[in-house]
Amino acid sequence: MKILVTGGAGFIGSNFIHYIMKQHPDWQVVNLDKLTYAGNLENLKDLEGQARYQFIKGDITDRIQIGSILSQGIDVVINFAAESHVDRSILDASPFIDTNIKGTQVLLDGIRQNKIEKYIQVSTDEVYGSLEKGKATETSNLLPNSPYAASKTSADLLCRAYWKTYGLPVMITRCSNNYGPYQFPEKLIPLVISNALEGKDIPVYGDGLNVREWIHVKDHCRALEAVVLKGLPGEIYNVGSNIEKNNLELVKFILKTLGKPESLIKYVTDRPGHDRRYALDAAKIKNELGWEPLMSFEEGMTATIKWYIDNKAWWQRIKSGEYAGYYERMYAGR
Ligand code: NAD
Ligand code: TYD
Repeated sequence: MKILVTGGAGFIGSNFIHYIMKQHPDWQVVNLDKLTYAGNLENLKDLEGQARYQFIKGDITDRIQIGSILSQGIDVVINFAAESHVDRSILDASPFIDTNIKGTQVLLDGIRQNKIEKYIQVSTDEVYGSLEKGKATETSNLLPNSPYAASKTSADLLCRAYWKTYGLPVMITRCSNNYGPYQFPEKLIPLVISNALEGKDIPVYGDGLNVREWIHVKDHCRALEAVVLKGLPGEIYNVGSNIEKNNLELVKFILKTLGKPESLIKYVTDRPGHDRRYALDAAKIKNELGWEPLMSFEEGMTATIKWYIDNKAWWQRIKSGEYAGYYERMYAGR
């Protein structure tokens, strides 16, 4: 099997590629990534030179490039490529519309024109909006509140339309908040760990009582693998852990584990339109595909905190802007 992973140099995509290369020694992986500020080839350094792995610098909005890659015998496409940070989408929605919506359309058109067995759209619980109580199922209303969430919802609706109209073999996964190795340190968990290790303030938005459902990235990768192997065209699968934490609980857990004082916490102005709570009902993927999360919160967080302690150079380079230009340096003269 030959899979095209788009956005594979980012957080979840790079974890997925590592996972797949290990689990499926007979699969070939093509990683297409634009290498925006969030894409980092250092995440995949150990795979360089392996015959089963190929990196292509490219953009999912580039019709010609996508058409050419898809015509070269790809079996499955899994689309991670996105602008992914809510705060950035509040400052400027334009790149979110381009990559998350237009890019998805270009991929879907490419799937239409080529014989691709499966297309998997990696979506998010944020499409359901904020839930005061209860859990979102795959048929719950779509009520996105941030430009990021609206762009992901739009992409999901395009996927649905291409399935209904053209019968494309499209599957959508909607996962809750991920954490784990290689997460860009603008997101809450790596930001808190790295700031705490540097003795810097931890910015907590509003009252710190917003709730997220946290899942270890490896459990998400396992769910995506199950969808690649057993998912059905036209279906949507929620991927959740049932582990709900408010932001303060989470921050305090990290500070305690690191032996750092709670006085580092600084309450800052809330994010506009800040969703209070996300929560997923993930019964469908469990019942239909036999997937369930394996990692407890304590196990996943302890391993993650250790990873950021052991890989200080990785996030210090990002925070200092030092890794910019890594691609050009690595591929110079090729
Ligand atoms: P990320 O920001 O770490 O990585 C995104 C990757 O996409 C980067 O490598 C970037 O260079 C690449 N990219 C951006 N624009 C591109 C373009 N036009 N063409 C090709 N590549 C491009 O994001 P992530 O956290 O790894 O998220 C991956 C996917 O999973 C996204 O679609 C996101 O919406 C979804 N998701 C994320 C979470 C989460 O908690 N992080 C939860 C649910 C779903
Ligand atoms: P984030 O990691 O940006 O994920 P999302 O907004 O997509 O769920 O944020 C997780 C939660 O943490 C969210 O409620 C916003 C909050 N937050 C802070 O309190 N401080 C911060 O510095 C960041 C980045 C997030």
